[in-house]
Amino acid sequence: MSADSRVDLDHLPDGVLVAGPDARITALNVAAERVLERSRADLLGQDVRIALPLRDIEGQRWWECTDPWSGLATRTGHRERLLLLPGETKPVEVLVTATYRRAERGAPVEAVVLGLRDAKSRQRTQEEQGALISTVAHELRSPLTSVKGFTATLLRRWDRFTDDQKRFMLETIEHDADRVTRLIGELLDISRIDAGRLEVHAQPVDLAAAARRHVERMVASGSDERKFVVHASPHLPEVWADPDRLDQVMANLLENAVRHGDGTVTLDLVATSEVLSGSEPEPVVAVSVSDEGEGIDEENLQRVFTRFWHSHRRGGTGLGLYLVRGLVEAHGGRISVGRAASGGAEFRFTLPASVPDHVA
Ligand SMILES: Nc1ncnc2c1ncn2[C@@H]1O[C@H](COP(=O)(O)OP(=O)(O)O)[C@@H](O)[C@H]1O
Ligand SMILES: [Mg+2]
Repeated sequence: MSADSRVDLDHLPDGVLVAGPDARITALNVAAERVLERSRADLLGQDVRIALPLRDIEGQRWWECTDPWSGLATRTGHRERLLLLPGETKPVEVLVTATYRRAERGAPVEAVVLGLRDAKSRQRTQEEQGALISTVAHELRSPLTSVKGFTATLLRRWDRFTDDQKRFMLETIEHDADRVTRLIGELLDISRIDAGRLEVHAQPVDLAAAARRHVERMVASGSDERKFVVHASPHLPEVWADPDRLDQVMANLLENAVRHGDGTVTLDLVATSEVLSGSEPEPVVAVSVSDEGEGIDEENLQRVFTRFWHSHRRGGTGLGLYLVRGLVEAHGGRISVGRAASGGAEFRFTLPASVPDHVA
């Protein structure tokens, strides 16, 4: 192989390895060294079947199963498969595609070209899915355990409880059933966001009124009224939003400020302009929700919006902020996080101001 063509192979993002008619390795690129975790010097000139003892996930020796050099003379190669190589500490996972080069159909194999891809990103996706399943299973199980426990108790010993006790149990059941319903709703929304199918039925919305309504709701469900402050600048334009989706955004941010933050929770609403989808700044309403808690460490600021990221201290599913960002962006808005002047966390999101009819 000429020096020039080797340079080309080295520029490929995926690994390429070539073995000649005698199964000896004649060429490989830098990416192949990386994927296989072996050096070129180690591999060149070696019999590929010995140097790379690939096995499939059932443990079968891959070269024996495929046998490019003495197998069926009409074979042209193999589709991508996940194969394992013995590694220093644990097996190296590699996605392998094979192409057999023959001078003509039925002729002996002149070269076997292996395409090699790192299986780590695939592994990461699988780990993420595993994390999703275990988080969801865990989150569903705890409320269901209480629903099951209280209903079973009530059914068996109905006559032994006072009305107050029964009421308490039924309220707990209702609360836990709501939790399950909400979690399932969030999961469905997340799958819609991931698939780009989230529907937003936008209409003009008075954000300041929505913010005050949310505070009232938090107070009604037991929070201290003095914990919340809403500052809305006068004559705020209405925003273009789906009221139900906006409710989810506000509810999640306020709940986080109460649960993960501390002290007074301040909502600030101002009219400003910001570059959203176009290149020119557009009129927006910016909402910031800040608290006086410990805030979020610098190193975690970028992670809070990722799926499942949550602190171990008082974390829940870690889905809330991922959903919030998806919802804000589905409205054409932006969300960011930083440190509030008061020391705690500050989440700021913007929504496009709705254009009055006579301008549109
Ligand atoms: N106001 C806040 N103050 C401090 N940390 C916060 C705040 N809001 C969110 N966080 C951090 O971000 C993480 C992710 O939040 P979220 O996605 O809503 O998940 P969850 O609330 O289920 O833990 C939380 O676990 C918490 O560590
Ligand atoms: Mg949350």
